[in-house]
Amino acid sequence: MAVERTFAMLKPGVLQRRLAGEILNRLERKGFNIIALKQKKLSMKLAEKHYAEHKGKDFYEPLLKYMTSSPVIMMILERENAIAALRNMAGPTNVDEAAPGTIRGDFGVITRRNLIHASDSTESAEREMNLFFTEDEIAPFEDGNEKWY
Ligand code: CMP
Repeated sequence: MAVERTFAMLKPGVLQRRLAGEILNRLERKGFNIIALKQKKLSMKLAEKHYAEHKGKDFYEPLLKYMTSSPVIMMILERENAIAALRNMAGPTNVDEAAPGTIRGDFGVITRRNLIHASDSTESAEREMNLFFTEDEIAPFEDGNEKWY
């Protein structure tokens, strides 16, 4: 299976509910290498660009309001089959359908304020990585464990 990169965003509720460490811990334990990471308060312009495909839907305006309400954590993750693996860990959009063990199943309370965005295809991952990161913000993962023993 091919090594892939995917894009993830931990939404405003994550920092507000002090869940950032818990979610990052799950991602690391599941073998995702974090190769880019930053915290930022999204501008309306950037949020509109990211969610352009949802323009006109009933949840679009509340989604933009939520996403720009306080800082998010964005990252690029790398591992084999990263796109599908991360979507599985996130769980389905509807928090009441998300199974226990998934991020949305364990922590999600309100679908419109769900906690994580994960790219849904190679094309979206590419587009979203380019929208939120520049090449010099990405650092190839190096397993440096042996240096500590
Ligand atoms: P996300 O993965 O960030 O992509 C689009 C977001 O829109 C989604 O997570 C939810 O936060 C929101 N969303 C998608 N579908 C619905 C829906 N049916 N009702 C409410 N919010 C939705």
